[in-house]
Amino acid sequence: MPSLDLFEGTAQNERQRLGPAAMVLRGFALPCVRELLPAIDAIEAISPFRHMVTPGGFTMSVALTNCGALGWTTDRRGYRYSAVDPDTGAPWPAMPAVLARLATQAAAAAGFDGFEPDACLVNRYRPGSRLSLHQDRNERDDTAPIVSVSLGMSATFLFGGQARTDPVLKVPLHHGDVVVWGGADRLRYHGVMPLKEARHALLGSQRLNLTFRKAG
Ligand code: SIN
Ligand code: FE2
Repeated sequence: MPSLDLFEGTAQNERQRLGPAAMVLRGFALPCVRELLPAIDAIEAISPFRHMVTPGGFTMSVALTNCGALGWTTDRRGYRYSAVDPDTGAPWPAMPAVLARLATQAAAAAGFDGFEPDACLVNRYRPGSRLSLHQDRNERDDTAPIVSVSLGMSATFLFGGQARTDPVLKVPLHHGDVVVWGGADRLRYHGVMPLKEARHALLGSQRLNLTFRKAG
């Protein structure tokens, strides 16, 4: 597998192209981390993290919650977006302005102007948590990009091709990095390798990932 490990620990503002319409914005979220973390705490207080079950019957190792008008969910009946948190029966918490702003700015920095996400999936990884290769294809609008923000422990992001069996890039992602993919790269397979034991100074033994999408 090709590896981008050479770039590990790169400075803020560095950009790495992963495809014609995909790039990593190193450290892009660092200036707003102090605002992001309390905003995530407030989301979690309304809609707590939970381990959902896939249509195949497996309990995900990643725990998730959502904010915004629509939230991504899975159960035995399938993957879908819902305006309501199935655990609380209430709408998902509103998307905090600091999150929406970060997503719009990161998308613009990667060449996608005017991105206005209506869904933000918040994933929480612990050591051993992983996300198997998948495509993001439950969104109605394929022309909007995906914006993915990494916080806390580092992880290895897998960025594949249009087919599950295509070669996969291994991309180390660190606290504050943002990945944006859209256009010709919008449906590329991606996932996250099992997280190694580690402690992050701010977040301890966890990685939080914010995935912004235009879902509705
Ligand atoms: C996702 O594909 O939903 C999350 C990717 C990540 O955690 O970096
Ligand atoms: Fe995804």
